[in-house]
Amino acid sequence: MAYEQAAGYADVFKHFAVDDADRPEQSCYPYAPVFPVRLNGGKSVIKRTTGPATAADAIARWVEALAGQGVGVVTPLPLPVDNPARVGDRFWVAYPWVGGRPYTGSAHDVAAAGDLLGRIHAARPAVDGMPEFGWPDHDAASVEEDVTGLRQVLGEHAPDLRDEVMARMEPWLESFMARTLPPVRDGGLPRAAVSMDFKANNLVYAGGAPVLVDPDNAECAPRVLDLALAALLFHNEMATAPPRLFTAGEWSAFSSAYRRHVRLTEAELAVWPVAVRYMLLEWGVWTLVDADEWNDPDNPRQRGFLRDLATVDADRFPLR
Ligand SMILES: Nc1ncnc2c1ncn2[C@@H]1O[C@H](COP(=O)(O)OP(=O)(O)OP(=O)(O)O)[C@@H](O)[C@H]1O
Ligand SMILES: [Mg+2]
Repeated sequence: MAYEQAAGYADVFKHFAVDDADRPEQSCYPYAPVFPVRLNGGKSVIKRTTGPATAADAIARWVEALAGQGVGVVTPLPLPVDNPARVGDRFWVAYPWVGGRPYTGSAHDVAAAGDLLGRIHAARPAVDGMPEFGWPDHDAASVEEDVTGLRQVLGEHAPDLRDEVMARMEPWLESFMARTLPPVRDGGLPRAAVSMDFKANNLVYAGGAPVLVDPDNAECAPRVLDLALAALLFHNEMATAPPRLFTAGEWSAFSSAYRRHVRLTEAELAVWPVAVRYMLLEWGVWTLVDADEWNDPDNPRQRGFLRDLATVDADRFPLR
């Protein structure tokens, strides 16, 4: 993973009127351009965000409405220039830097995160123009690509798990369009604007309470899919998290804090195991196949996380 250099983004810093002296050398994050800067005299961050302009603006209005209701989310800095802004053919946003600490994995931090997700789902501010969740349409070739990709990555990095995982995942991947997608897509499930990225590495704990600092993948989607993503991927790519998914106990703490704000419907409770499988087959398989960290001797934590993700049973995350 290479940290992107600020020098390649002079036009972005120019748009936001950041003085040369206030620019960093490089991104603070290995996976994407996220540049800590000084703006308006304060510590801030400039990062690439979702396009088109209508999506970036809708996400900005969404977080502003959430923050207006006291929900812990970052909001674009009010600036004399467009923010979010189009620069060239990409979109950029400046947020204040949220001072605080990372997730520790403590019981308190787990419950506080569930509480925040519940507040986000419960707020439901009226916002026009949110991007809509896109339903996949996998043909036989793309299923085959997933099956081959998964078998290959496991064969290379977790050969002891390969046969056991493929025996379970291959039939599920093959029947995804017929058995997993329809109950979720056609189930009349409540929808909400959600971040679809509610993971520990997108939270900063400020005074003990988490703040969502990465709302930029937000879209309008069935809220159980966002909850299922958190169940599976909350500990993904987070150095200070344990080397695994939530335990049953952590899930209980997370989900009960969530449910103090959201009353899940009967349809949601009934579809939940399918929703978890949906996210496992879509986001989970992608995470396993795409991970550069499988082999990283400096990152045994992520390797442990990936092994747990490959073998997790949805029963670990009950809602009833
Ligand atoms: N406003 C902020 N205040 C404090 N820390 C931040 C802020 N924005 C980003 N960070 C830190 O930088 C990291 C990367 O930022 P962010 O998650 O926004 O990038 P990203 O490109 O959207 O990442 P990904 O798509 O991989 O989740 C975060 O995990 C967080 O540690
Ligand atoms: Mg992020």
